[in-house]
Amino acid sequence: MNPNRPFWMPVAYATVGLVLLTALWSVGWVATGAAVLLAVLFIAGSYWMIERPKIGPIPAREEAVDSAVAAAILDSLPDPVVLLDKKRQVLALNQAAMELMGEAAKGRDLSQSFRHPAVLSGVNDAIAGHKFKGAEVSLTTPVRRTFEVYATPLPPGTIGTISAILVLHDVTLARQAEEMRGDFVANVSHELRSPLSSLVGFIETLQGPAKNDVDAREKFLDVMAGEAGRMARLIDDLLSLARIEVNEHVRPVGSADVPVILQGVVEALSIKAKKRGTTLDLESNTGLAPVPGDGDELTEVFQNLVDNAIKYGTEGAPVSVRVDAVARIPDVGGAGIRVRVANRGEPIAPEHLPRLTERFYRIDKGRSRQMGGTGLGLAIVKHIVARHRGRLVVDSSAEEGTVFSVFLPDK
Ligand SMILES: Nc1ncnc2c1ncn2[C@@H]1O[C@H](COP(=O)(O)OP(=O)(O)OP(=O)(O)O)[C@@H](O)[C@H]1O
Ligand SMILES: [Mg+2]
Repeated sequence: MNPNRPFWMPVAYATVGLVLLTALWSVGWVATGAAVLLAVLFIAGSYWMIERPKIGPIPAREEAVDSAVAAAILDSLPDPVVLLDKKRQVLALNQAAMELMGEAAKGRDLSQSFRHPAVLSGVNDAIAGHKFKGAEVSLTTPVRRTFEVYATPLPPGTIGTISAILVLHDVTLARQAEEMRGDFVANVSHELRSPLSSLVGFIETLQGPAKNDVDAREKFLDVMAGEAGRMARLIDDLLSLARIEVNEHVRPVGSADVPVILQGVVEALSIKAKKRGTTLDLESNTGLAPVPGDGDELTEVFQNLVDNAIKYGTEGAPVSVRVDAVARIPDVGGAGIRVRVANRGEPIAPEHLPRLTERFYRIDKGRSRQMGGTGLGLAIVKHIVARHRGRLVVDSSAEEGTVFSVFLPDK
């Protein structure tokens, strides 16, 4: 029935009509036959007015609109939402839940698509009328994800046969960030503590047993200078990383002449190369146009890559640095330039490749430390390249050696 009109209104119209008709008939103004016909019409009309809304299309359309709105709202939520009946059967799922559990989950017991005991017991609680909130579950397939589970009971009859609503709130990124922050603080403390404890040890020795030993003092002071230098470098690298991270989403505004930058980097590192019996071969295409970029940051990128090639490449084998134009940057697309830094030597095992740009990740920790490394070089490279909207690609094989390629877009 149309809720905007009280049910008695058509009846009232009919009654007024019939009374009027009777009056007109009794004074003889209306013929008996016509009066009977009109009376039937009045009654039929009022009946139609009462009944019409019940069978009319208006409420059906409103219901359809309501459920379409509800489905659109549920689908727009980033978290999986599942509606369940009192037997724990899946009545409906939103898009995010469909992606997680598969379309086949609909109509089946939840346990067939979701075996996690915490989720199932939460849903059982909700069906029994108790709100369930907060257990954390981790799923490993298809990718590792962590969810907070919420299951809310719905009193019978509130919305059809729905008894419980299950919401899986995705907290993967938050947990990852917490983990990384914890690891990072632990790593920084560790990296600073080792040179510091070595410094403290030397100071104590110089104050005590080696007080008057001139030779030992000279030697110890050299080592101490090295350790202090490493601490200073670590702090510089951390600050530089923090600065680049803050600006990572903003593209640099300047323009950079990469062949000129490479010339400078090769000159600056040639003495270090010489010490390892290595030569730096720069093959530069001087016809290249400058690319959008920050000269100082790009210098830092190539300095670290060439420095690594000298440090980790075979002693005595040349390091090759090459720059040329490319028609298409892998993954990113668009034209640009590629800088290749290649060295001979033991190839990097495939399991290390994706982790090289993590902070403090070194294949051989002892060797890197002994060479004065902080393990932050490639992390800085990665962020600078990302800021330039470029790509860093690493290939390593026994035949080709290790090749770090930096792609930079030319506009
Ligand atoms: N050309 C290379 N060949 C073999 N291994 C490499 C090469 N470049 C980097 N690596 C490996 O990657 C690790 C990380 O390199 P990264 O530049 O981040 O740190 P680092 O060189 O140890 O320290 P820093 O750059 O701060 O001096 C290195 O410790 C090394 O194990
Ligand atoms: Mg390095």
